[in-house]
Amino acid sequence: MTSSKTTQLRRIRYGLWFLVTIAALALGGAYFVRMIGVREPPPVAVGEAAIRSEFSLIDHNGNRVTEADFLGRWQLVFFGFTHCPDVCPTTLAYMANVLDRFGEEVERVAPIFITVDPSRDTPEVMAEYVRTFHPKLVGLTGSEAEVAAAAQAFRVYYERMEEEAAPDGYLMAHSGHIYLMTPEGRFEDVFREGDRSAEEMAADILARMNGKQ
Ligand code: NI
Repeated sequence: MTSSKTTQLRRIRYGLWFLVTIAALALGGAYFVRMIGVREPPPVAVGEAAIRSEFSLIDHNGNRVTEADFLGRWQLVFFGFTHCPDVCPTTLAYMANVLDRFGEEVERVAPIFITVDPSRDTPEVMAEYVRTFHPKLVGLTGSEAEVAAAAQAFRVYYERMEEEAAPDGYLMAHSGHIYLMTPEGRFEDVFREGDRSAEEMAADILARMNGKQ
């Protein structure tokens, strides 16, 4: 083999490695974007008017409910799924902690947990799950289409992700925001577990409820 041929082969080999590296970086980047998608910034950038409380779902007692059933109360709405290993239990525990700080004013609040995994989260599963967090917490489920429509109205992102180690081999990636909706069902604000203490969040919401903000 001539030395020029060796150089040529080496160039081709380097070229191939270069392509492999670029491909790996691109794939890694796409994966990273997918992962940070779960921690996306608050959806207010989409436009507050775009976020609507609109749904027709089944509550954890098996009754058909819509947003109209919650009008007149401040709604705290969170989307997730009962098999969630981290974000959902942490956020729902945080919501429960906030609710416990409302005192009697808790009657003016409707905390709502909407599943993004309706095939597993039946009303019975939801009933058992919400009970472990707070007696006021309402669990909502429905058909895949009904859940998709509710998530769309709230501008909530979710996506099924295959994960061998997870129960049934999948997880649901989902955005982790708590929506605060007014008694008229209008968007008021979004919160995230961990951004502020439960005391601060409860005080903030109480101030809005009592017209001080
Ligand atoms: Ni979750």
